[in-house]
Amino acid sequence: MILKNISLKNFTNYEDAYCEFDENINIFVGDNAQGKSNLLESIYYISTISSSRKNKDKELIKWSRDYFSISAHFLNKFGENKVAVKVIGNKKEVYLNNYKIEKRKEYIGYLITVIFNPEDLYIIKGEPAQRRQYIDNELSKTDIEYFVNSIKYKKVLEQRNILLKEFTRKRVSDELMNIWEEQLIKYGTIIIRKRIDLIEDLKNISRNIHYRITENSEDLKIEYQTDIDIENIEESYRKLLKDNRKKDIERGYTSIGPHRDDLEISINGISAKKFASQGQQRTISLSLKISEIEFIKNKTGEYPILLLDDVLSELDKKRKHKLLEEIENKVQTIITTTDLNDIESFFVDKGKIIIIQDGKVI
Ligand SMILES: Nc1ncnc2c1ncn2[C@@H]1O[C@H](COP(=O)(O)OP(=O)(O)OP(=O)(O)O)[C@@H](O)[C@H]1O
Ligand SMILES: [Mg+2]
Repeated sequence: MILKNISLKNFTNYEDAYCEFDENINIFVGDNAQGKSNLLESIYYISTISSSRKNKDKELIKWSRDYFSISAHFLNKFGENKVAVKVIGNKKEVYLNNYKIEKRKEYIGYLITVIFNPEDLYIIKGEPAQRRQYIDNELSKTDIEYFVNSIKYKKVLEQRNILLKEFTRKRVSDELMNIWEEQLIKYGTIIIRKRIDLIEDLKNISRNIHYRITENSEDLKIEYQTDIDIENIEESYRKLLKDNRKKDIERGYTSIGPHRDDLEISINGISAKKFASQGQQRTISLSLKISEIEFIKNKTGEYPILLLDDVLSELDKKRKHKLLEEIENKVQTIITTTDLNDIESFFVDKGKIIIIQDGKVI
């Protein structure tokens, strides 16, 4: 996939901006607080129609304005496309090739981006919920069934949790509980299967990439963690829900299922969550992101667009070099920096330099 250009109106600190991209390497250069991350965020936004930093749409409207709009032209296997988004207050309108998109799932797969931003370090050190969010985001980019099932699962989970809480006031029949649990198992099993498939694929790809970036010194391993027996998901899931029903009633929430699972990440057999250094955390999350690019290519036949925000700080020279080598000549990349000297000359020479100053593309 290739992003050709983007236009912004009243998006964060941009009033009116237009930017064209090279199909290989693009480098946003500018001092702090000029709008590099915001411009990258606008690209992520038009690919998922949501913020990568979990900002509310409203917060992306330029202060004291009442709307923002973004439009972009991009190439994918279907040809050239135009996407346009407008957010006014709480209302959002999305058009793909001038047709109105009513539901997000209609747009899945058209323009796929993989973004690395400093918040992604939470994948390693953060809470399980952040790792689940990472997995959910990645799968939802290419897999409509996953996206739809996740929404259904959340609704059923809410219902079961409401029933659990009702139990303390009046007894709810076992039959009713069984019905909701069967629904949970139905949607939850699909979610778990797809997550395991993703992690299995990512595991092999990321291990190789991480070996290359660290010059064979770090053996990266990722593993999906769940209480459910993955050899026999449905049966084990059913049994665990029943076995834990009493406990769940006492706690008022459901303790088993994909909403409780986690991702275990280790380096040379040692937990990354507990022991990885800053640079190691950054390298791991980058290896995962680059693996994701390969995963998406395998699934869709196309490379997504890679967005790298403030990626090179904390990496030593060798790792920087290896990282840039991994992405060179492969995928359209947009990278931000405050200083071109931070980026190796072979990369800068090939790249399109885009200067960002005070909410303007110069
Ligand atoms: N809704 C908004 N309206 C106006 N300005 C905003 C809005 N949201 C964010 N900003 C401002 O945009 C400015 C640029 O932010 P951005 O994160 O893009 O900077 P940056 O160039 O990436 O800087 P750094 O090098 O520090 O990462 C910030 O000063 C921020 O306060
Ligand atoms: Mg920034």
